[in-house]
Amino acid sequence: MINFKGRAVAITGAASGFGKEMAKRCHGLGAKLALADIDARALAAFEAELKEMGADFFTSVVDVSKYEDMQAFADKTFATYSDVALFFNNAGVEISGSVWRVSMNDWNWVYGVNVFGIIHGIKCFIPEMLKQEQESIIINTSSQAGLVSGHNSPLYLSSKHAVVTITEALELQLQQIQSKIKAFVFCPAFVKTNLHEAGRNRPAELSNSPDDPYYQTDDYKKKQGLMLYAVPNGIELDEAIDMVFDALEKDLFYIRTSSDNTSIEKRFKNILENKRPLFAG
Ligand SMILES: NC(=O)c1ccc[n+]([C@@H]2O[C@H](COP(=O)([O-])OP(=O)(O)OC[C@H]3O[C@@H](n4cnc5c(N)ncnc54)[C@H](O)[C@@H]3O)[C@@H](O)[C@H]2O)c1
Repeated sequence: MINFKGRAVAITGAASGFGKEMAKRCHGLGAKLALADIDARALAAFEAELKEMGADFFTSVVDVSKYEDMQAFADKTFATYSDVALFFNNAGVEISGSVWRVSMNDWNWVYGVNVFGIIHGIKCFIPEMLKQEQESIIINTSSQAGLVSGHNSPLYLSSKHAVVTITEALELQLQQIQSKIKAFVFCPAFVKTNLHEAGRNRPAELSNSPDDPYYQTDDYKKKQGLMLYAVPNGIELDEAIDMVFDALEKDLFYIRTSSDNTSIEKRFKNILENKRPLFAG
């Protein structure tokens, strides 16, 4: 596995959940930290912790859905640390609901962060990482949702499918040019983070109209309810991050936290047999 000692690790979505835990682990491995998040208050609280830990770091308030923000973060990272061992392209948000009834603001918010955030990260970090002498890694955070079919959260599932496909193409293209960068796609199942409260950092200009009756319906509440239950009841965060390091060690491209293959096999069986996905309640 890559040696992080004295090298930089850049992380988006660094003020909570996976990003925050990864930052602490990488500090423990001797890395310097470039940390980005949209949540200025949570970043400031984390800064206090990092100072106590004696970490070498900087933080930036970044909205990954904005290309200019990501470019400024990448510029600051390479100007400060010059050599990036790992770019953890991780920030993401979730909302559930009906494909045709959720608002365009929902689609734009989720795709802005989960898809364009990942694209912006690749475009701003990979060209600089390609210039580096040493080997490096990019981990794009998708989800188990990026590998399966489902009816509760089409926005989230489809955005995470995009991340899987983009990362597969990225890895192939990096191999094509014999680069020293390896790509990985992180596909966790439910893990105890704050993802179920993703709306806390939703920009006001993308909020839903209070007059939209859809968000008061049982259909919406039931669909969003799964996430509200499943994330706080997921596996422990440190267990999931252990699995990330284990996968890096074993060079596993798809970094998964669940070994239950049922939903993935079901989807691919349907595809191979040209079958319609069936609603199972
Ligand atoms: N927790 C799970 O069960 C789970 C499962 C599969 C995938 N994931 C993915 O893990 C990633 C990290 O989420 P988490 O579970 O740690 O949740 P989290 O809410 O604890 O952390 C996500 C962080 O991303 C930040 N963020 C949100 N929008 C942003 C933006 N526009 N720009 C910059 N930062 C922004 C938030 O402020 C937050 O600090 C996400 O991509 C999520 O989809 C989580």
